[in-house]
Amino acid sequence: MKKSFIFISLLLALCYSLLVLHHGFVDAADADSSVHLSLPSDQPYRTGYHFQPPQNWMNDPNGPMYYKGVYHFFYQYNPNGPLFGDIMIWGHSVSYDLVNWIHIDPAIYPTDPADINSCFSGSATFLPGYKPVMLYTGLDTEKRQVQNLAVPKNLSDPFLREWVKHKANPIMTTPEGVKADDFRDPSTAWLGYDGKWRVLVGSKKNDLGVAYLYQSKDFVKWERFDYPLMSMMETSTWECPDFFPVSVSSTNGLDTSGVINPGVKHVVKVGFNGIDWYTIGTLSERDNYVPENGLKGNSLDMRYDYGKFYASKSFYDNAKQRRVLWGWISEADAQEDDVARGWSGLQAVPRSVWLDRNGKQLVQWPVEEIEKLRENEVKFSNKELEGGSLFEVEGITASQADVKISFKLSNLEEAEELDPSWTDPQLLCSEMGVSSKGKYGPFGLLALASDDLTEQTAIFFRVFSSHGKYVVLMCSDQRRSSISNNVEKTTYGTFVDIDPKHEEISLRSLIDHSIIESFGAEGKSCITARVYPRLAINKDAHLYTFNYGSESVMISELNAWSMKNAHMIVDETLSSAA
Ligand SMILES: *[C@@H]1O[C@H](CO)[C@@H](O)[C@H](O)[C@H]1NC(C)=O
Repeated sequence: MKKSFIFISLLLALCYSLLVLHHGFVDAADADSSVHLSLPSDQPYRTGYHFQPPQNWMNDPNGPMYYKGVYHFFYQYNPNGPLFGDIMIWGHSVSYDLVNWIHIDPAIYPTDPADINSCFSGSATFLPGYKPVMLYTGLDTEKRQVQNLAVPKNLSDPFLREWVKHKANPIMTTPEGVKADDFRDPSTAWLGYDGKWRVLVGSKKNDLGVAYLYQSKDFVKWERFDYPLMSMMETSTWECPDFFPVSVSSTNGLDTSGVINPGVKHVVKVGFNGIDWYTIGTLSERDNYVPENGLKGNSLDMRYDYGKFYASKSFYDNAKQRRVLWGWISEADAQEDDVARGWSGLQAVPRSVWLDRNGKQLVQWPVEEIEKLRENEVKFSNKELEGGSLFEVEGITASQADVKISFKLSNLEEAEELDPSWTDPQLLCSEMGVSSKGKYGPFGLLALASDDLTEQTAIFFRVFSSHGKYVVLMCSDQRRSSISNNVEKTTYGTFVDIDPKHEEISLRSLIDHSIIESFGAEGKSCITARVYPRLAINKDAHLYTFNYGSESVMISELNAWSMKNAHMIVDETLSSAA
């Protein structure tokens, strides 16, 4: 046990000292954040402003929180390589603005029998007196998944560098009838109506995916409720459950323990089958959760994101009274390519989350701090895009950009009928890709495009009429994103709940070398794609607006910016520790 810890420590020390050396070079070149680094030509997929550790594998966000002026971000990390590892630990980074990060020592790693084979995902909770604690999953000596508690060693250290495992660990073990590797990812805990703590743990029993509910008076002794908070037949194991209240009257966030409040609804999010699904409902005083629209596990359920986005976790940011969501964006290329470049996995730009005015769905928007990276604004308004036209947005770094566009449509009477059998938006987007011309649409953006358009990722809309109303489809078509055939090019799609007769159709895309995060209708519908262009890299990437429908559309407004690099530095004290 001790031996393996020393081994890991040595490996960490070694890899970090190498990184510090490497970083010294990067930082000198990037001393002024307005200077653009040209990324090394062998690393065209490394991002400029998305969170990434200096190297190796990263997956789930863990325990995000705000403490004493500092944002903390922990993450599932393999210190030994660019693929998921035999021993997983908690990487740890800190920030004052959710944009620029300092990578510090790993926070939670195997030390005890209850976590000696890995420290998997978990969440932070604030105990009374502003005391953060972590619940996390350990892989014990028998490789069983158990839940553990860790507390900061020194609450006066705003970086919370050291964590101490509770002597009572494990504090939860697998329920009877649940397999040893189907019990993980405790949520942030909240205070129930009776003043006792509640927490969710993801699991699966036989064919039933479940979010188990536990309660505790002291945070150490936990008792499971007989019934899960939510469940569904025939899913993979439920992962990373998240629970939080949302205000019905304000876009401000609420503390997770703000449950007892008449002006709130409750969100339960669970991950299974590789997708993060959410429901909006009400938690009763007796801990019954009643979703307004139950999960069916199909394409019409509500998802945070209809592209790549998983294992997400939110936290309440009391500095800005908002709820902030983190989500892991995995790779979509071949493992051998991940190994060759030495890293895998990104985090989406943190998103503020609130309840839409209609009370039926959430809205997500990149945290405002990311706008500090904008420069070289290009803008125009009231430009008509005729049917079959294309227009280049020049003057920005198209490989690292933030672009907002909104479209106004007239004569909607001309819209095509939606066939009643077209109920699956993703299927519709793959059958009606960017090359399939309609009346209203496809229109939108071609991002990370080569100058001859051989490579392009198309994010676009189509508008149909249906029973006197209009249906807006949003797609992200990756089929021509790369001339390489060794990458996944799934087309994504979703319906957007807006009325194009009375509202403009807006799109914002955050483009960053190998990721495009798109927000339709001011954040009502999100689609994230990973792409690996070979031609449209760095300065050879272009951005276009287009309209391939037969009817013209009006760009009422376009704003585009180059994005500066975020600073991601390795804390120097690590080199002295090494
Ligand atoms: C706790 O952290 C504070 C602030 O970083 C530091 O000044 C103090 O020395 C630390 N205490 C111990 C016991 O390490």
